[in-house]
Amino acid sequence: MKQRGEKISCLTAYDASFSALIDSAGIDMMLVGDSLGMVIQGHETTLPVSMDAMVYHSRCVSQARRRAFVLADLPFMTYVNPMMAAENAARLMQAGGVQMIKLEGARVEIVRFLVDQGIPVCGHLGLLPQSINQLGYYKVQGKERAEAERMIAEAHKLEQAGAGMLVLECVPAALAKDISAQLSIPVIGIGAGVACDGQVLVLYDMLNIGLSKRPRFSRNFMQGAASLQEAIMAYHQAVKQLQFPASEHSF
Ligand code: KIV
Repeated sequence: MKQRGEKISCLTAYDASFSALIDSAGIDMMLVGDSLGMVIQGHETTLPVSMDAMVYHSRCVSQARRRAFVLADLPFMTYVNPMMAAENAARLMQAGGVQMIKLEGARVEIVRFLVDQGIPVCGHLGLLPQSINQLGYYKVQGKERAEAERMIAEAHKLEQAGAGMLVLECVPAALAKDISAQLSIPVIGIGAGVACDGQVLVLYDMLNIGLSKRPRFSRNFMQGAASLQEAIMAYHQAVKQLQFPASEHSF
């Protein structure tokens, strides 16, 4: 899809009913995000999410999917070394039924080890919610030149280590555009501008049913929609036609 210039649509999913709905609306990928810790479990951060919870929700989503590609997050502290990462990634794939795992940060050696075991890996740079206690608060990453250069270098290292995809979260649109153009793997943005190869949103944000205030980079797709299915299809179309994200959703 990247090669032919077709934008990739992705939404988070956590259960079978939404999985079936998202799948039938034509969305290309579903991410079983550890954001489930916040939107499903009601925690303040993603940190308390366990492997058992990720496997359970991955299984729910995978069982109901017919067509869409499914990836899932390795949660906090489940990939501190290559063996631990491989065992937990295997659980997500074997018991959870997902096709790719995602992990946060420039964990190049871990990515290389997983890819060597035949595990497809998606990297995640920019705002890293699992590092929120180091960051202090959720904020745009890569605004300073040195930070931006480091992110570009890390993106290349992840690709060279074998990552098959990269998520960029809360990154200036111009930086995300550069990274997307420089990498041959698809770059999926959330709060990273329209030039990424695809977009992902947290489902509950775009349906406007989140527990907390909707982030600036998201949009309420229920507005003007007669049903959940219509809202999800509107998001899919908006991504495909480069109508989302608009400048007001970007940094
Ligand atoms: O957990 C999640 O939902 C994510 C997205 C924000 C990309 O990682």
